[in-house]
Amino acid sequence: MDDLKAKYLGQIAGAGDENALEAIRVAAVGKKGEVALKMRELGKMTPEERQVAGPALNALKDEINSALSAKKAALADAALDERLRTEWLDVTLPTRARRQGSIHPVSQATEELTAIFAELGFSVAEGPRIETDWHNFDALNIPGHHPARAEMDTFYMRRAEGDDRPPHVLRTHTSPVQIRSMELQGAPIRVICPGGVYRADYDQTHTPMFHQVEGLAIDKDISMANLKWVLEEFVKAFFEVDDVELRFRASHFPFTEPSAEVDIRCSWDNGQLKIGEGDDWMEILGSGMVHPKVIAAGGIDPEVYQGFAFGIGIDRLAMLKYGIPDLRAFFDSDLRWLRHYGFAALDMPNLHGGLSR
Ligand code: DAH
Repeated sequence: MDDLKAKYLGQIAGAGDENALEAIRVAAVGKKGEVALKMRELGKMTPEERQVAGPALNALKDEINSALSAKKAALADAALDERLRTEWLDVTLPTRARRQGSIHPVSQATEELTAIFAELGFSVAEGPRIETDWHNFDALNIPGHHPARAEMDTFYMRRAEGDDRPPHVLRTHTSPVQIRSMELQGAPIRVICPGGVYRADYDQTHTPMFHQVEGLAIDKDISMANLKWVLEEFVKAFFEVDDVELRFRASHFPFTEPSAEVDIRCSWDNGQLKIGEGDDWMEILGSGMVHPKVIAAGGIDPEVYQGFAFGIGIDRLAMLKYGIPDLRAFFDSDLRWLRHYGFAALDMPNLHGGLSR
């Protein structure tokens, strides 16, 4: 019996997996196993012999059974350890950049300029892209015969047959949001209005849809000096330079009087654009003091209130800041272009953390 015990406990200790263990169980304590065969021999023994051998066989059977279940548990533990060792996943690893979406440069530039103007006390206003002829033109002091209407290459919506009202237009600029904001909020008011605008035009620097940001500040004592300061602060913050020289050039827009176009000092060295240095000037925006007729169209008394407005091309800003040469690529939806020029998702620009990282 000692031999049996030594044999099976040794086999159990050496079993490599559950199948091997089951084979040992059948051979040792199964119905036709070696211990069962020994049990059958009890009948041939004398009562004295049986009294010794019976309990001893039962004890042997118990011992083998408990060795089997202990080994079974140990094998299961080892199998689990092995799985845990091979199937682990480091959830702290960064995500795979190739699979990650990225932020379009226009969205990035819009977030950046919104953060800057928010610091300057401007809130964000929006208007519809399908705009009434009145908001897009008349209210902005561009009457029906005005050449600016033709210059803007307007997309007109179709009216129903027999409907003689002026058709709606795809807004040609964000300036109508000036009118809508004044109608909604009255004065004083300080808003920026970023968004898409449309003109029938297509070449390297023009696309039929592009983006502008309108600015509007109306109060009792707002002057051209405020306009100049706000624009200088904006440009310095946006291009992340300490100093920048702006040139205000007299110009004409129907909705401002006086009007100024603003150029920024820059240099082009080997096709590399640098802001704030050099002998070149680059036009970046139109601006001026809001025309009294426009203030009145917004439902505000121009005898009491005055203010400034400006309109900046966002796509243009993005091209300048991020060094993107062709405007058309902005709207090609080419994933390779987006991966190259796009920005990391979830990195919201703010003035304290840095605008573009
Ligand atoms: N709306 C003009 C455009 O699309 C830009 C502009 C010029 C906006 C002067 C203004 C402004 O608010 O004051 O070309």
